[in-house]
Amino acid sequence: METPTLETVATDVDFLPLNGTDHLEFYVGNAKQSAYYYQTAWGYKLVAYAGPETGVRDRASYVLQQDKIRLVLTTSMDPNSEVTKHQSQHGDGVKFLSLWVDDATASFNETVKRGARPYMEPTTMEDEFGTVVVSGIYTYGETVHKFVERKNYKGAFLPGYKAVPNAMDVTPVGLKYVDHCVGNVELGKMDEWVEFYENVMGFKLLLTFDDKDISTEYSALMSKVVSNGNGYVKFPINEPADGKKKSQIEEYLDFYRGPGVQHIAVETDDILETVADLRRRGVEFLYVPETYYDDVLDRVGHVEEDLEALKKMNILIDRDDSGYLLQIFTKPVEDRPTLFYEIIQRKGAKSFGKGNFKALFESIEREQASRGNL
Ligand code: FE2
Repeated sequence: METPTLETVATDVDFLPLNGTDHLEFYVGNAKQSAYYYQTAWGYKLVAYAGPETGVRDRASYVLQQDKIRLVLTTSMDPNSEVTKHQSQHGDGVKFLSLWVDDATASFNETVKRGARPYMEPTTMEDEFGTVVVSGIYTYGETVHKFVERKNYKGAFLPGYKAVPNAMDVTPVGLKYVDHCVGNVELGKMDEWVEFYENVMGFKLLLTFDDKDISTEYSALMSKVVSNGNGYVKFPINEPADGKKKSQIEEYLDFYRGPGVQHIAVETDDILETVADLRRRGVEFLYVPETYYDDVLDRVGHVEEDLEALKKMNILIDRDDSGYLLQIFTKPVEDRPTLFYEIIQRKGAKSFGKGNFKALFESIEREQASRGNL
């Protein structure tokens, strides 16, 4: 394998223009309680709801928003539903990485023509606030990309959902938008999924990390990052690599019981403030050894932030040709060691913190060992 390469994203005609991430929908065991966690700990505002009280008999969905980030938490009332089966198999996890488009019908046709497995034919939904067209295709595992066309809609979320005018007061933590969403796939499948994003969705390969960059004594992964044409949507894809012991990607695949979304990176423009708030509210982050900070400035050069403050918050630093970035990773946010979050503040850097992978892995492995899975 080669060392990382940074390629320019080509600007040829984009058959799948994307405006960004529309929403991330999770299938969970208890949406009411998950919604409370995202409101109290993460400062998301409950903006819309669908469930028995709004005429939806078999499920309940809570729509939470912070700036441009929209999470939907869905639980089922029916033990035989697709939602319940998904949750039973995978635990709480991301079902839909939904993309905001101007034309959901063309998005479906163009990708299915190129080999995408259909999930949902273009479907028009309507209420008093207008119309939305939604379609969907499968990606890795049971994860789905929905295409959401909402240019003719003014409602709170989607037809079928009701606005929640009297939601509880929340204090946002400064999260702005989804920076990237990472998928874990099986050993030997990374390139297949990179090709899927290239051939079926018109994405370009942006970066490659190989096992030399990001292996530790015990576990390793391979990672490639694909991006859409305008760079608004970036999907790193990981697969396990050989190590002396179990890779963290393997641990994920074992517990999620298949490929799925590993982490969601959310952008802030004040990471010190955001992380301090989240810590006060009980969100747990991976521990970074103090020694990480001894020589970090030799590696990344000058940063504007106070190093002691970054150290106190366990924030990681990395640099590329365009600038630097600050990032930190939470522990998994459910009992299975599966999905976690990354908080990222970009100060010019366009990369993903390759220089931190080793430090991060050493930290993740300490956590893994504590669960007896290393
Ligand atoms: Fe990331």
